[in-house]
Order: sequence, then structure tokens, then C-alpha cells
Amino acid sequence: MTIPGVEQLSPRQGLRILWTLRRGPAGLPEALLQARAALGDIFRLRLGRLDLVVVGHPTALREALVEKRAAFSWRVEGEPIVRLLRQGLLVQDGASHAYARRTMERSNRRRHFLPRLAALRNPIEKLTHQWVSGRTYDMLVEMRRIALVLFEAVYFSHDPTPELPKLWKPILALIKYIGPGPWLLWGASEPPPQALKVIDEHLYSLIRARKKALNPPDDLLSHLLEAYSDAGIIRDHLLTMLIAGHDTSTAALAWSLYELGCQPEWQEHLRSEIQGYFGDTCPTPEAVLELPLLDAFVREVLRLYPPIHAGNRRVVEPTDLLGYPLPPGQRVLLSYYLAHTHPAFWEEPLAFRPERWMAGEKNESFAYVPFSGGPRMCIGAPFAQVELRWVLSLLLRKYRFFLREKHVHPYMGATLEPRPSLYMQIERV
Ligand code: HEM
Repeated sequence: MTIPGVEQLSPRQGLRILWTLRRGPAGLPEALLQARAALGDIFRLRLGRLDLVVVGHPTALREALVEKRAAFSWRVEGEPIVRLLRQGLLVQDGASHAYARRTMERSNRRRHFLPRLAALRNPIEKLTHQWVSGRTYDMLVEMRRIALVLFEAVYFSHDPTPELPKLWKPILALIKYIGPGPWLLWGASEPPPQALKVIDEHLYSLIRARKKALNPPDDLLSHLLEAYSDAGIIRDHLLTMLIAGHDTSTAALAWSLYELGCQPEWQEHLRSEIQGYFGDTCPTPEAVLELPLLDAFVREVLRLYPPIHAGNRRVVEPTDLLGYPLPPGQRVLLSYYLAHTHPAFWEEPLAFRPERWMAGEKNESFAYVPFSGGPRMCIGAPFAQVELRWVLSLLLRKYRFFLREKHVHPYMGATLEPRPSLYMQIERV
């Protein structure tokens, strides 16, 4: 049985997909939908060095993430993400992954991070103090700043605000480096050296300072120092968490604000729910999980705009997905985006409708996998779930948001982001 591939496309279908892809990563979401419509739930893309099997059917995702997971490796040697993260959690398999995962799970438990978040009191007050009511800001930039500061506060017990002007461009350069690009066809180069130097210096200085601390805080950095003597491996895990832990939340928060700009009635629904529950008191990170409208809204954002839209794997022993055989060495893309928009599992899959979650639209569990699934699902999911709801509650209580950007489109870089930017006018409530 051969997997349907690009060669099976009619010239018309092929040209249509190529035309969509002329916009590069901005055309990818639509091109994937077109390829599935033409080729089915599993298909193969071959171009230059690229030979990729793409699957986005919930059954195939369950097979790859749970039942047949031993046949897939997360580490694809030579790819930018492996060159950058080296021995980091995201690109490890087997015993080294299991040890790192156990070490890092501690800081990702709710009972561990909730008090750390609550101790920040109302971080949005401080993080938006320069906003002027009536002015327009790029919310993609603003949300990245908020996500970075919250991440480092909780996991590194550090406030990076004074260093942000120095760190900003290097972080963006590293994120761009690991996203899809021409390297897929021609092979990857080394990470941009200048950006790498600045971020490495940041991480190694945190490690050095912590080694000297007399009363080290109980956070991820301390847990890693207890578990490893090699500063290089600690750097790899810190960089993995730093990138995976803020770029994703940045995208999810930005898409949330975009949809709130498109659907102002949802801003009012959520604001009344938050005010009804908290009154004049400040929303707490624990209690925001109790708000059903906010919950439905965030779930729908993560369905239609999954920040990590795909999982990249390499087959390491003969296996099959949906009954199609896959040989060792084959690269496979698990498309969470295609599962979230599968017409057999979602009514009006491309419509943003938070109501579907309140009506209890029932679904196959692997049709909704914003944090992936199985034993290697996102380690930061408990934190992200709280963070998104808390930041949105704190923002909505204080501001109204008006969309000023006309042509926002989803861009499949390292994460699925609103591009080219997200200009919104803000007004104090
Ligand atoms: C909205 C926010 C987030 C989303 C949507 C998200 C999504 C995901 C997904 C889909 C995966 C699996 C990737 C794959 O299949 O290849 C993943 C893995 C991972 N995520 Fe997240 N993530 C989020 C936030 C976070 C945060 C806050 C952290 C850290 C604090 C984090 C750290 C990681 C790590 C380290 C892995 C690899 C886990 C392993 O291999 O054991 N993520 N995430």
C-alpha cells in the first residue's frame, strides 16, 4: 500500500497548492487543508531533500502518540531545533528523556507554581504601566513581553525586564531559526552565532548566580542544579523551557486578543463573568479556572490556533499509521492543526465558536490535542492553562481592546502566530 503523495495530485490541485505556498509559512495552514482535501488523511510531500508524511487524523495521532510511540523518535539529527537545544528535554528520547522529565515535572505541578504566581500579585499592573488609554500597541510584542516575564519569574525566580532590550532580537532570531524555512529543502545551517552568544550568556549567568546563592529558591533552575553537574545540559533544558514556555503563550494570548477584537460581544461576556465572580478584588491564578465562559473561549482559541501546530518525528522501527506502512528513517509530521479542523469531527471547523464547548460538543479525544497527548504531552500545560486565563482576566478587567490591524493571517513559524503584527487600540475600562 503506498501513501497518497504529491505525484497523485492533478496538475490543477498541484498548482493551487503551490500558489497558496507562494506566501511561505503564511500559506501553510491553507495549503495543508487543500492537500488533505485532495489526498486524504495521510499524505506524502516530496520536494528536494524534503520527504515528509503528514497525518492529522485523530486515530493516527493516538497511534503515534500512545500505542505505537516506541516506533517514533523526537530527535531528528541535524535539524535546527536539535542544533539549538542539543540535549534539551524536547529533543531527547529514552532514559535521558525520562530522567529530565522526572526532574522537571516538579516545577510544573499546580501546587508548586500556583503560590509562585499568586506571589506576583497583579503583574499586569506593572507590565502595562506604560500603556496610555486611547493609544495603539502591537499586541504580539506586548504579549511576548508579558509571557517572558511571567515565565522567568516562575521558573527562574528572575525578572528579565531590565535585560529585555538586549535579549529581544536574539530571542526572535533563535525562534526564526527553528521555524520552517528553506532548510527543509536544502539542509540546516548552524544557529545564528551572535544571537546564540547573547542568550547563552543570559542562561549561564543565571546558572552561575544560582550556584552562589545561599538560600536558593525552590524553582526549576534549582531542581536542574540538584539533578545535573554539567552546566551545558542545564543550559539546554533552560533554553528549551524558555523557548517552549513563552513563545507558545505569546501566540495563544495574541490570538485571544485578536478574536476579542473581532468579536467585541465576547469581551463583554468575559468581562461580566470576571466582574461577577471577583467584584472589586483582583482575580487569583487559582480561581480563574472556575470561569466557564473564559474556559470555553480559551479552549476555542487553542483549537483554531494551536500554537504548536505539529509534532516532528522520525520513524525508528517499521510501523504503520492508519494501516499505511512507514519504514525506519521516514520523517512524519503529526498535524495537530489538521486534527483540530477535521470536518468529520468538528461542526463548522474553521469558524471560531466558543459556544461549541458550552454546548458540550462531544469529540474523539485525539481530535483536540493543543498540548499533544500521551506520556510526552506538553510538560508546561498545567502552567499555560492557568497563565492564559489569569492574564486575560487581568487584562480584560482593566482594558477594552479594538482591532486596528486589517490583514491578520496565521503564520506557521516555530508557533502559529498572528502576522504581520497585531495592532490594537486600548482603552481603560
Ligand atoms: C499555550 C501554551 C502551550 C502550548 C499550546 C504547548 C503545546 C505543546 C505541544 C503540542 C507539545 C508537543 C510537541 C510535539 O508533539 O512535538 C509540547 C511539548 C512541550 N512543551 Fe508545551 N505548550 C505550551 C506551553 C508550554 C510551557 C508554558 C512550557 C514550559 C513551561 C512548555 C514546555 C514544553 C516542553 C519542554 C515540551 C516537550 C515535552 C517532552 O518532550 O517531554 N510548553 N507543548
